[in-house]
Amino acid sequence: TSPFAPRHFLSIADLTPQELATLVRNAHRHKQAIKSGSVPKNLLGALAGKTITMTFNKRSTRTRVSTEAAVATLGGHPMFLGKDDIQLGVNESVMDTSIIISSMTDGIVARVGPHSEVADLAKHSSVPVINALCNDYHPLQHLADLLTITETRTATSGPTLGLEGLKIAWVGDSNNVLYDMCIGAMKLGINMAVATPSAYSIPQYMKDIIQSQAATAPRPGTLTETTVPEEAIRDADIIVTDTWVSMGQEAEAKERLRAFAGYQVTNELAQRAGAKENWQFMHCLPRHQEEVNDEVFYGPRSVVFREGENRLWTMISALEAFVVNKGKIV
Ligand code: CP
Ligand code: NVA
Repeated sequence: TSPFAPRHFLSIADLTPQELATLVRNAHRHKQAIKSGSVPKNLLGALAGKTITMTFNKRSTRTRVSTEAAVATLGGHPMFLGKDDIQLGVNESVMDTSIIISSMTDGIVARVGPHSEVADLAKHSSVPVINALCNDYHPLQHLADLLTITETRTATSGPTLGLEGLKIAWVGDSNNVLYDMCIGAMKLGINMAVATPSAYSIPQYMKDIIQSQAATAPRPGTLTETTVPEEAIRDADIIVTDTWVSMGQEAEAKERLRAFAGYQVTNELAQRAGAKENWQFMHCLPRHQEEVNDEVFYGPRSVVFREGENRLWTMISALEAFVVNKGKIV
């Protein structure tokens, strides 16, 4: 890499605990300011005359809308490039695409399949690449999740957001959203309890990546795994799940629905397991009936729509850090 190589944002693992907390705090500040009618001075026109491309080879509602809206808020031009629009993957390699796109624009937000695709884009790009979801990571989602947690628990202070000791239970499939959540938890002192069927547990290479985060954390969180949802949920402050069939796994849908029977999040399960009295429910969306019932999803414990909206505010803070400030997170 040249000394001028841009700083990319491919996973929560790319951030120090302090940087992670700063991105969330900045998002909170910008949300307050913009909602009360003023774009902060340092953001006003910060991307004027600049183009951010969005190379997406999977569907998206939240990530697409939040990115386009965030770029517009900063005065820039978001350019959406779906998989049927450009030569990538059909007539052209990731490397050639990356060199060309980055030579004409100021940032790339990419949604891909295997992590290697976004890593390759980054390797050959002369502008910052932000991962908008790959099979292993979803860092933008985790920023929004943390903003939501701090907002609903009024714990935004302190270098690590004051979330030490919080217990999050994840019930369902192990996937991209979970992995960045575990990485963030390690950094911030949050205890993750993960319940998956045994055939769908966190793969060893990912466990190693998660555990390695402890080295730089002031007070590392913990990761425990079980196949029993009740065990994970006991004493949990927050219960989280996600789809049982992630994008790209459609062919396994039948088999997966069978394997995850009994993992649906319900009030009855939470009560039987002994979740904390004021437990909250989170989900990155899109949601299906099978992983959480309507009573929980639309009920008073659910913060899912705030979580969705927070994708906008955290995208503004990610663009500010990685594109406007060239990777300086302050
Ligand atoms: N949560 C999330 O990333 O949603 P989209 O797939 O709709 O962008
Ligand atoms: N795990 C899901 C998240 C969607 C936002 C997927 O990868 O499809």
